[in-house]
Amino acid sequence: MKHITSLFFVIFAAYMFSAGDGAPCGDYGECDTFEPDLWNNESLQKGFSTYINYCYGCHSLKYSRWNRIATDLDIPEDLMFKYLIFDSEVKSGDLMTGSMIKFNAEQWFGVAPPDLTLVTRAHSPEWVYTYLRTFYEDGSKQYGVNNLVYPGAAMPNVLLSLQGQQILGCKDMLTYASNGGVKRDETGNNITEERCGYLLSLNNGQLSTEEFDQLIYDLTNFLTYVGEPAKRVRERMGWYVIFFFIIFTALAHLLYREYQKDYH
Ligand code: HEC
Repeated sequence: MKHITSLFFVIFAAYMFSAGDGAPCGDYGECDTFEPDLWNNESLQKGFSTYINYCYGCHSLKYSRWNRIATDLDIPEDLMFKYLIFDSEVKSGDLMTGSMIKFNAEQWFGVAPPDLTLVTRAHSPEWVYTYLRTFYEDGSKQYGVNNLVYPGAAMPNVLLSLQGQQILGCKDMLTYASNGGVKRDETGNNITEERCGYLLSLNNGQLSTEEFDQLIYDLTNFLTYVGEPAKRVRERMGWYVIFFFIIFTALAHLLYREYQKDYH
């Protein structure tokens, strides 16, 4: 018994230790919600195209092959070669190993940009979705930007021209009493308090906030798909299996009734 108790204690302590990193999305707190839509080929195609144009130069997808993505997302191979593959050496069955030489990358950024095939599984789709939308101006950093979800990230803000600049600013927030009600002064006005560290958008990018969020949605959706391409097949197969069980149970039941007749 004593052993079991101490085992539980160790597991509990390990859990607390691993959860002790703070909020799931760093200085941002809770991550924004993100629901993947793995059957939406249009969204996945857009995400793929954004990835190739803005991310693939630094981040490989080395556990994925070009033709697998083309087949899954319904992209004709000739169009993929024409618009999305910029290296004439590439064959359609090749792994997407990227174009950056690791040694150079380490010298430029201090860390080599990691492969992103499994990034939505290593973190979570919510984390990636939030991370890509929370870069802000910070003159003390190498590229003039910092990130709320991943403070001190060595990645430049590659989507700056689309999103426009964001800065950290302050907001007047309502204050709450211990019973959960908003605090008011004698004249009945709400008492507010200035809190800082919030993202403010300067809205000087090519896209509106909604358009930019949609772009990042599609990109994260694509990265979620690429982390486990078989998920789509698996989930569809699951329905067939359940359908089969229902039919099989019905047939087995009929057969059972047929046998029962002989006994009586
Ligand atoms: C100019 C090179 C460059 C480009 C282009 C680039 N990144 Fe990065 N990215 C980096 C570097 C370097 C890091 C490592 C940051 C660190 O660990 O400090 C990184 C880190 C990341 C991470 C965090 C990975 C992890 O596991 O910690 C994600 C997610 C990411 N990048 C997504 C993207 C996406 C999506 C795009 C395209 C919109 C993109 N990056 C474009 C250089 C780049």
